[in-house]
Amino acid sequence: MVRRINGACGLLNRAILHSTLACFLVWLGLFTLIHYQVIDAAFFGFSSCANTEFEYNPHTASRPAFPPPENTTYRAPDTIDTFLNYNYRNHTDCQISSLDLHSAFSPLCRTSEEFIRAFSGGGRVGFNRPFIPLDCDMRWFTTQEICEIFSRFEKVIVVGDSMMRHVVGALNVLLRRDLGYGAVTNWNFNDQETLDCFCNHQMDVKACSVQGIFSTSSVLENDPDSLACSQPINLVIEMMLRFPLDPTEVIRFQDLLSSKKPKKPYAFVFGHGLWNDLDIQASLNWLDGILDHTLEKAPYLNPSGRHKHARPPLWPRIYITPNSAGVRKPDAWLVSQGDKALMVFEESVRVEAGKRGVDTLGTWNMSIQSTKYDGVHLDLKGNLIKAMGVVNWLNLIHVRDW
Ligand SMILES: *[C@@H]1O[C@H](CO)[C@@H](O)[C@H](O)[C@H]1NC(C)=O
Ligand SMILES: *[C@@H]1O[C@H](CO)[C@@H](O)[C@H](O)[C@H]1NC(C)=O
Ligand SMILES: *[C@@H]1O[C@H](CO)[C@@H](O)[C@H](O)[C@H]1NC(C)=O
Repeated sequence: MVRRINGACGLLNRAILHSTLACFLVWLGLFTLIHYQVIDAAFFGFSSCANTEFEYNPHTASRPAFPPPENTTYRAPDTIDTFLNYNYRNHTDCQISSLDLHSAFSPLCRTSEEFIRAFSGGGRVGFNRPFIPLDCDMRWFTTQEICEIFSRFEKVIVVGDSMMRHVVGALNVLLRRDLGYGAVTNWNFNDQETLDCFCNHQMDVKACSVQGIFSTSSVLENDPDSLACSQPINLVIEMMLRFPLDPTEVIRFQDLLSSKKPKKPYAFVFGHGLWNDLDIQASLNWLDGILDHTLEKAPYLNPSGRHKHARPPLWPRIYITPNSAGVRKPDAWLVSQGDKALMVFEESVRVEAGKRGVDTLGTWNMSIQSTKYDGVHLDLKGNLIKAMGVVNWLNLIHVRDW
């Protein structure tokens, strides 16, 4: 019985109709004829019909959304939890795996432009799920690699607001291999702070986020063993919020720069916006002010200071726009600092900063499907992704052009 049904279908398929529907109708007729006695046989007959029409064809199969990362040593860290040996990684209250933050795929972005577009346009499939850049991937570097990348620069100078302080905090978590207290000045903590400012709470408890680390030199002064890098590195933040610029902040900022060209290049990371209610003109004035003060102190960075046809000096600068808003952002701010304002601001910065030779790392798409504990700021996990974005940008700078 089984053979007859199969045979009938096969014959129809090959010689007459070549259509599953017809095959199914013939099968239905036979089924009515033979009825209950051959239920099993009919089932097998049907599946055999379907198989001849729907065979897997690798040439017509849709491309998987995320092909696996390249099978190379260079990409291997992207497929493991790079936090495995970080301090407090195994603490019950600090279960953060790097694999929860970023999901690796191929191909890897090759240039800075590719990476910036991929990061700014990437997103997540589901709330708080791993971040996936758009079209090409970023690296998830190990601490050893991050140390090497930082060591290519005289200084990595971050200028901005609380969002940038959090990015610096997350970078220090990576540089100190410490998920528990890497972002904060735990060397002067009392018992209460040690309890309160742990892991994710380094950022999401206000009293703790003001205990952020501001410079590598303060780590070297207070807790040198906590720095994982064997080579010299220098990461520093100057908090500058207001426009017009505060003269004491400007002096402190200029003191970070050498008036003679140093051996290695500087890299500048800017972040601003919310303090001026996303007034694009205020943020551009802020940026222009800082760029002018930079050139005042470090004229060797001036793009128009050399012969007309010479390559302009290497002056790597990136602007990180504020991340998306969360449900806890107060209603009173929804017009001035809500998601629409944030998205328009990000686009405007991309255009205007670009005219000044400053790259823009957008964070709206990366952050929309993630926790903003106060409606404004990302927690440690979100900031670790921003921080790894900064490291990827640094890695793609051609420092040999210095
Ligand atoms: C990756 O490459 C290594 C060495 O070339 C090989 O042994 C391994 O089977 C490869 N893995 C996959 C998933 O292709
Ligand atoms: C955490 O546990 C894993 C697996 O047991 C281990 O390999 C790793 O070294 C531990 N990390 C720390 C910091 O103790
Ligand atoms: C990401 O989000 C912004 C909104 O902030 C949008 O304008 C932009 O086009 C998106 N994509 C990319 C690639 O930046």
